[in-house]
Amino acid sequence: METIGVGVIGCGGMGRSLANSAHAVEGIDVICVSDLQEALAEKLATDLNAAYVLDYHELLADDQIQAVLIAAPPFMHAPIAVDAAKAGKHVFSEKPMAPTLQDCDAMIAAAEDNGVKLTIGLVCRYHATHSKVREIVQSGELGAPACMMVHRIGGPWRSGGSYVPWRLESAKSGGSLMEINAHEIDFMRWTCGDVISVYAVGGQYVQTESDYPDVVLASLQFANSAVGLLHSSHISAVGGYGGRVDCQGGSIYFPQIWGGNATIQIKPFDGEGRHIPIADINVPPPVQEEIRVFVDAIRNDTAPLITGVDGRAAVEIALAAYQSVESGQPVPLPL
Ligand SMILES: NC(=O)c1ccc[n+]([C@@H]2O[C@H](COP(=O)([O-])OP(=O)(O)OC[C@H]3O[C@@H](n4cnc5c(N)ncnc54)[C@H](O)[C@@H]3O)[C@@H](O)[C@H]2O)c1
Repeated sequence: METIGVGVIGCGGMGRSLANSAHAVEGIDVICVSDLQEALAEKLATDLNAAYVLDYHELLADDQIQAVLIAAPPFMHAPIAVDAAKAGKHVFSEKPMAPTLQDCDAMIAAAEDNGVKLTIGLVCRYHATHSKVREIVQSGELGAPACMMVHRIGGPWRSGGSYVPWRLESAKSGGSLMEINAHEIDFMRWTCGDVISVYAVGGQYVQTESDYPDVVLASLQFANSAVGLLHSSHISAVGGYGGRVDCQGGSIYFPQIWGGNATIQIKPFDGEGRHIPIADINVPPPVQEEIRVFVDAIRNDTAPLITGVDGRAAVEIALAAYQSVESGQPVPLPL
């Protein structure tokens, strides 16, 4: 198997996760990591026996590196991805793809123009609950999907951990609908298909330091006539992450996604239902798997499973939801 040399740009929480995961995948050599904060880059490089640089352009000049994993903040994804593509490197960019459609388009164009692969880290496609729910819907055993509801709710970001300045600015993070819910938007679109309009309400109640709503209820009209509702919130002290899909022949209910004692309940209108314990669904470690699949696409010269078009669609739906919150009107897609 051909070994693929990889560079990691951004050595914060997710960059460390990507680098460690890449290191654990057979046939990947993490050659170099980069961060503006030297201590972070140096620590990660030491842990993985890799080199480190502060300026990512130096990493892009390294001939041993065929692909980059980008885990800088969202507003930096496009400039780094475009530079990487121009340097002939295949690109894995963390979600959200970028906070604007112009930046998403620039990333797609740069990859096409330079003949490199582009994928986005919409890792929920590799999670046990998300992939099982989608598989059941797509199998058709319950008929066509009619209504999908997903909630991902929690408290406000507080000091430490995820409370970094860029997350509080929509121009840098894309707001919660991108920075957090790119995953759930992609999950809903992956399960029910393309979205043709978005109607959303929201407000700002608790996370008042940010410049975007901290709660949004976004209803989605899918092209296949199904409807969806995303409940995105930073104002819940109880929190939770789960949902349901009602199809024309029955329903799927997932009270949470994490496992434990929870089950996915599948109940047709006619006949017996069943429960699938989430803990019994065997999937490979999701971050390792998304990287392995990306690197396989490079090796086999095939299209990545998750494309720039997928990443852009999640951004477009989030932008439409924010527009709808502002205007009070449904927003048709494409924007
Ligand atoms: N897939 C997931 O579940 C998941 C989870 C967390 C974060 N993320 C995504 O990963 C990305 C990073 O998030 P994070 O939590 O690691 O943020 P973070 O703030 O912890 O890390 C970002 C790092 O990028 C560095 N950086 C900024 N500009 C740079 C540049 N020009 N060159 C090199 N490094 C640069 C910063 O110094 C910082 O260390 C975001 O897009 C976020 O949405 C994904």
